[in-house]
Parts: sequence; structure tokens; C-alpha cells
Amino acid sequence: GGAMAAKRGALIVLEGVDKAGKTTQCNKLVQALQQSGRPAEMMRFPDRTTTIGQLISSYLEKRTELEDHAVHLLFSANRWELVPSMKRKLEQGITLVVDRYAFSGVAFTSVKPGFCLDWCMKPDVGLPKPDLVMFLQLSSAEAARRGHFGEERYETSDFQKAVQQKFEQLMKDESVNWQVIDASQDVESVHLDIVGHSHGAIRLAQDVPLGELWK
Ligand code: TYD
Repeated sequence: GGAMAAKRGALIVLEGVDKAGKTTQCNKLVQALQQSGRPAEMMRFPDRTTTIGQLISSYLEKRTELEDHAVHLLFSANRWELVPSMKRKLEQGITLVVDRYAFSGVAFTSVKPGFCLDWCMKPDVGLPKPDLVMFLQLSSAEAARRGHFGEERYETSDFQKAVQQKFEQLMKDESVNWQVIDASQDVESVHLDIVGHSHGAIRLAQDVPLGELWK
């Protein structure tokens, strides 16, 4: 049609180990963007509200056992099932702020015995590619100071340390726009860093089509 295409929104992802403050910072970022007149919405993975998400939630709460490959594919399927709605929103000019994405998927599963990074990445190849991935960096000492881990699967200090190393491997991939954020700062300072990077990403995303992850 002849109508001028609206500028698309940006896909912004926050990643990091547990206790880094991802969820708090996602909420604050969405609020800040909305207050500055930019449409923005928060999403999180796993999205526990869908049928697939309920299977995942039950697994994380240790109410069910699932085979490791199978659960990895469920986490990925949970992202793919949201892709049509993500694309629709981005096209409408809405910036999406996403709490965890394929990087968590790969980092958490690849720690398990018998899994390599490459196999873990495959099911997520071609997902909408984030315009910006901010990794909230926190030392395991600082994470420990922030209190006890919860009761869910994966919430132990050893597992989290191994996950951190996997994230470090993923961050070497220069096809992804990674920014490391020092999450040991106070909440407001972390927020200001995140807002700064996000405005840049939103500006850049306006003029380039949405990419495909790891493709
Ligand atoms: P989440 O619901 O974000 O819980 P929390 O707020 O406690 O961090 O994530 C639940 C767990 O699922 C978390 O330990 C990371 C893990 N995870 C995977 O193993 N694979 C994935 O693809 C994703 C998105 C998360």
C-alpha cells in the first residue's frame, strides 16, 4: 500500500544469572520508555501462561520430571509460539522488553551433561533477533550476598556459576549486540545504564529490518 510504514519497535532482551535484578530492571525500563512517550511492553520467558508454559512451570517447580532434551525443546517452543504476537507488536512500533530469551535457553541446558552449545542453539535459530541484549553481570559472591536462592530447579550456586560461564561463551558471538551491565551498582544506576543503551537501540532499530537470530 501507499501508506508510509510506521517505525518498528526494538526487541530488547535482559539476560543474567539469578539475583542480578533482571525482572526489576525490565519493569523499570518499560515504565521509563512509556513515560518518555515510547510505546513499550514487557514479556518474559518462560511465559508460564500458555499450555507449553504450564508444562515448563511444573518442571521448574519439581512437580514433574521431563527428559532434558524434551524440556529444552519446550523452552524453545514456548518462544516460537509467541513469535507471531512479538512480530505484530514490533511492527506496530511497540518496543518489547524481554526478561530472558534464547540465551538463557542455551546457557541453562548446555550446563547439563551431554549437551553442547551448538545443539542447544539449533532450535532457536531464526527467532526474532534482539536489537540489544544486556547482560546483567553479577559476581557469585555478590549474588550470594543478595540472599538465598529459591526452591526451583537450577537455583543453586554451583549451577549458576556454570551458567555464567556459558553466558560468557555466548557473549563472544559478535553477531549479537551484547552490552554488559554492572549489576552490582544500586538499582537506579543500573537503570540509568540500561535506559541509555535502550534509547540507542530504539533509534537504530527504526531504520533496519528485524533480524534472524544465529542465522
Ligand atoms: P524465570 O521464570 O525467569 O525465573 P526467575 O525469575 O526465578 O529467574 O526462569 C525460570 C528458570 O528457567 C530459570 O532458572 C532459567 C530457566 N530457563 C531455562 O532453563 N531455559 C530457558 O529457555 C529459559 C527462558 C529459562
